[in-house]
Amino acid sequence: MKTYVVGNWKLNFTVGESSIYLHKIQKKIPNYRDIEVVVAPSTLALQSLSLQIDRHKMKLAAQNAFYRDFGAYTGEVSFEQLRGLVDYCIIGHSERRYIFGEDDKTIQKKVAAALRNKITPILCIGETESERAFGETADVIRDQLMSGLSDVSEEEIEKVIVAYEPVWAISSVKGAKLASPDEIGDAVKMIREILKEIYGAKTAEKVAILFGGSVNPSNAGGYLTVPGVNGLLIGGASLILDEFTDIINVAKRVKS
Ligand code: PGA
Repeated sequence: MKTYVVGNWKLNFTVGESSIYLHKIQKKIPNYRDIEVVVAPSTLALQSLSLQIDRHKMKLAAQNAFYRDFGAYTGEVSFEQLRGLVDYCIIGHSERRYIFGEDDKTIQKKVAAALRNKITPILCIGETESERAFGETADVIRDQLMSGLSDVSEEEIEKVIVAYEPVWAISSVKGAKLASPDEIGDAVKMIREILKEIYGAKTAEKVAILFGGSVNPSNAGGYLTVPGVNGLLIGGASLILDEFTDIINVAKRVKS
């Protein structure tokens, strides 16, 4: 399986800045065939970056999209409209869940819409600090995963990526803490078990599971060696050229 290094730029960079930054990343990294480098710029920049990107080196992801293909949905962008522009879409990021009120049903429909439009969903799941404190981590992981995947068939699941992102470890969250490799290992094991229950052991092994939460060049190697972790979803550090490319090089060193 490939190793994924996904940079989520969130609400940062103008279209011009995104283009300059993409150019710099592409100049700095070689074509690592076993490392899938993905960046998720603002929706506004996707059109121009899709023309600029060297797809041998990198791929594009959307940060969000709406689950209906067309219609009276003012202000939305659909997966159908993103088809051909992006290979991936981040779905169910905690900022979408908690700032924009996306519920499990919405996320389930978005996962299905992405697959219908040949876009690989990166389904984010993870507990908040208080859910962890109340011992609800396992339940939250199960609920978010099961509902996110409710419309996903056995043939489709291999095209889905799951990202475990404990909300309390995301760098922009107040008082964020670093997740320990053991904590990540336990969660990833749970995710893999649930995938096995639904899709069988052989298929479950083919699903990539990423970790995200305050990843930087110094902890990336440790996180990538947690059993079952197939890549990283990176926020803050993906905005800094040297940090992002260092993480890509760490991934290459650790995983190949
Ligand atoms: P972070 O963000 O790497 O800045 O913690 C991760 C994310 O929100 O996906």
